Amino acid sequence: MDYRTAQGTLMLVEREALFDLAQQVAAQSGPRVITNLGVQFGASCVCLRQGCPDADLYGIDIDLAQLPQKVRDELGPHTFLIERDSMQYVPAMLDACERSTPARLNLVFVDGLHYKDFVRNDAQLSRLVILGGFMAFHDAYEWDHPEREQSEVYPPIQEWLAQYPGEWQELPKAGTTRIFQRVAGGG
Ligand SMILES: C[S@@+](CC[C@H](N)C(=O)[O-])C[C@H]1O[C@@H](n2cnc3c(N)ncnc32)[C@H](O)[C@@H]1O
Repeated sequence: MDYRTAQGTLMLVEREALFDLAQQVAAQSGPRVITNLGVQFGASCVCLRQGCPDADLYGIDIDLAQLPQKVRDELGPHTFLIERDSMQYVPAMLDACERSTPARLNLVFVDGLHYKDFVRNDAQLSRLVILGGFMAFHDAYEWDHPEREQSEVYPPIQEWLAQYPGEWQELPKAGTTRIFQRVAGGG
């Protein structure tokens, strides 16, 4: 299976960007953990897996029924697929990490439900991202007009940035995807 052509609607430039980010994660020291919110057919998971073959990869989706068995097989044993609403998963992760050892995520790809409240919620997983780690948000721009901001996704990303001033540096966008690297905080 090739991440460039795995079933899904991601643009080639977005697939290359996810693969490249995962490769950067592969070069980081310590355990590597990647979370993908919104799995569907699994194209983004395949990009992340092939970019960083030894990462623990968490794929969260409210309904995993569309994920083909051949993609599950490709993702391998260090992939943890969790069928859950991100509105429950993200607060539960944050709560669990406050109570015990915090998770240390290297990369979060946000591609779940593209409504403001959901993007606001999903962005909070950034609190678990290590210094030097990444947040990437799909569909921040309109698919057919990548120069136009998507009205349900772009504004909550701006709110999230304002909430953590100085902590995130924006990298060049890829297609509709906005990408940020943690440059302060996060330990
Ligand atoms: C655009 S698709 C993801 C595409 C995928 N990243 C890819 O590369 O093919 C959005 C996914 O978000 C899931 N989703 C919708 N609402 C959700 C929620 N509240 N929590 C988690 N996943 C959700 C949908 O089931 C759908 O599979």
